[in-house]
Amino acid sequence: MSEPLQPSGPDLSAGVELSDIPENGMLTAHVGGEPVVAVRHGQEVFVMAAACGHYGAPLWDGVVVGHEVRCPWHHGRFDVRTGEAAGSPPGPWSARAPGCAPASAGSPPPGRA
Ligand code: FES
Repeated sequence: MSEPLQPSGPDLSAGVELSDIPENGMLTAHVGGEPVVAVRHGQEVFVMAAACGHYGAPLWDGVVVGHEVRCPWHHGRFDVRTGEAAGSPPGPWSARAPGCAPASAGSPPPGRA
């Protein structure tokens, strides 16, 4: 395991402009002090924990391919729509990115009503 990731980027609970999130890309951010990545496809935004469920790699160093985020360390794949693993590396594995919270543009950020 690696050291816990530190929050970086904007606080999503304060809101960001849709244009701040690259189309088919990621924005490194945090919610309530927890590091997250926000992925945008058109008007849809998905937010998931930034630490890979395998060994905790920072997913913001990975790549977005379609609706997947691919981990930079062992190429684990997460579906941003569900947070579920779409492909796993060998060894210990959590099938879901911890704290994954898919969201849509215009909906409240995770943790807010
Ligand atoms: S740390 Fe992400 S796949 Fe291993």
